[in-house]
Formats: sequence, C-alpha cells, structure tokens
Amino acid sequence: MKIGIGSDHAGFELKGKLKEHLEAKGYEVVDYGTHSLDSVDYPDYGKAVANAILAEEVEKGVLICGTGVGISISANKVKGIRACVCSEPYSAKMSVRHNNAQIIAVGARVVGEDLAKLIVDEFLAEEFEGGRHQRRIDKMLEIEK
Ligand code: RB5
Repeated sequence: MKIGIGSDHAGFELKGKLKEHLEAKGYEVVDYGTHSLDSVDYPDYGKAVANAILAEEVEKGVLICGTGVGISISANKVKGIRACVCSEPYSAKMSVRHNNAQIIAVGARVVGEDLAKLIVDEFLAEEFEGGRHQRRIDKMLEIEK
C-alpha cells in the first residue's frame, strides 16, 4: 500500500520516525513535507496529502502537527476527505471501520512515538465495513454540496 505522509515543523521529527516505521513494515511512503524544523503552516501539508489521495497518488494518509488538530481540519476542507485526529488506537481503528477515513492525524506534542506507531498501525490494518455506515458517509458527502 502507498501511504502519503505530511507534517508541519512541530510534527517533523515524528514524521521521520513514522516514515521509517512504515517503510520497515513494507509500505511505500511518499513524503509531502515539511522537510526541516523551520516554521511552516500546517494547512499546506494537510492539503497536499488530501489532494494526493483524491488524485490517487497514494491510498491513505498520515498527518502530524503539534496537536493533530490544525492539520486534520485543513485536510477535511478538501471535499471527499475524511481525516481523523486520534490519540489512541481504538478511535483510529473505528475511523476506518465506520467512517472510512482516508487520513489519520496525530499530535506530536500529545502522543509519544510508540503510541503514535500503534495508532497508525491500527488505522492501516482496518477495512471499511460498509452497509449502514455507507449511508452515513453519503449523508456527510451531501453536507459538502
Ligand atoms: C504549531 O505551533 C502548532 O500550532 C501546530 O503544529 C498545530 O498544533 C496546530 O493545530
């Protein structure tokens, strides 16, 4: 599976660790930046990964900022994208099973490296259940119109 990853400066170090972790597990990871600790604006990276998913450059996305909040809100502004900020694995798992989320976001100032890896692993291991959950996603898509 091809994964797009992106962060702002606050998530830069954790992005590198998650990228390494995912590559070790056999995922192909495309890095949409940022590429240094210099201060940048998280919407640019949320947007880049969200657009990469819509363009089918990558299948899923991982975003990191200080809290995971700003970068997930930014990704969710792209129509058709469901990005969830999670601080524990259960929500990460259910965000795929029930919400068919394409992007997981984590806060580098909220969760430690090992917890972030667990969250991302749960997210990538799951599949959408469909059925009644698709009806609810269709309603979300209606709201976007
Ligand atoms: C950057 O200082 C910080 O505001 C950003 O990483 C993020 O936490 C915003 O939601």
